[in-house]
Amino acid sequence: MKIGIISDIHSNIEALDVAFKWLDDQKVDEVICLGDVVGYGPSPNECCDLIKKNCSATLLGNHDAAVIGAMSTEFYYDAARLAIQWTRRQLSSANLEWLYKLPYTHRNSEWRASFFHSAPICPSGYFYVVFKDDAVAHLRMMDRLSDISFLGHSHLVRAFRLKDGKVKETTVDKVEWTDSAKHIVSTGSVGQPRDRDPRGAVSYLDTDTGAVILHRFDYDRKTTAQKIADAGLESRFGERLFTGS
Ligand SMILES: [Fe+2]
Repeated sequence: MKIGIISDIHSNIEALDVAFKWLDDQKVDEVICLGDVVGYGPSPNECCDLIKKNCSATLLGNHDAAVIGAMSTEFYYDAARLAIQWTRRQLSSANLEWLYKLPYTHRNSEWRASFFHSAPICPSGYFYVVFKDDAVAHLRMMDRLSDISFLGHSHLVRAFRLKDGKVKETTVDKVEWTDSAKHIVSTGSVGQPRDRDPRGAVSYLDTDTGAVILHRFDYDRKTTAQKIADAGLESRFGERLFTGS
């Protein structure tokens, strides 16, 4: 099976459309969304509607949690907090209700995979797994990790291999299933990349081989940035789409 993975869309419908088009072309069987459907961007309802239609599971990201009041907005800087409040006002009651029901994790034993928005060690804590030490903390839960754990949250592409009490940073395309190794993989952001590459990121897991295929794509970011300006959201949210920062 091919399992599509999207994350950190952040209300960017132009990027999300292109990501789904690529997943369609790859003939994926299902798509899992790792959360942060909303926040920062100008099209929250459109993104919720499309994800509801196309994803078999969606997780609760920290921005989604803040929008529904399940997380305090005091952790956010002013512009991000204003965007969360703006998003709350824009969302239809059906989409707000949908966000309320989203879980923190999703696991599928047949696929040998689990899905999280942030660090598996405490899914509701929204901790990052960016550096090797962040992954090292997961050695103590080796027996509970699936062979592959997919995460969003950092908006970066990262892969760590955990084996024999040690962690090695690797690349996403080097993820291979073995009996004793576990992998923690961040697949990047659809709608707001932050790895100095402004292209969106989307991927899929081939459950027959364990391979992760990552794809970067261009989209009409001018339109997204214009919509951000028109909505009165912080202009930097639009500018960073051109730099991937
Ligand atoms: Fe995010």
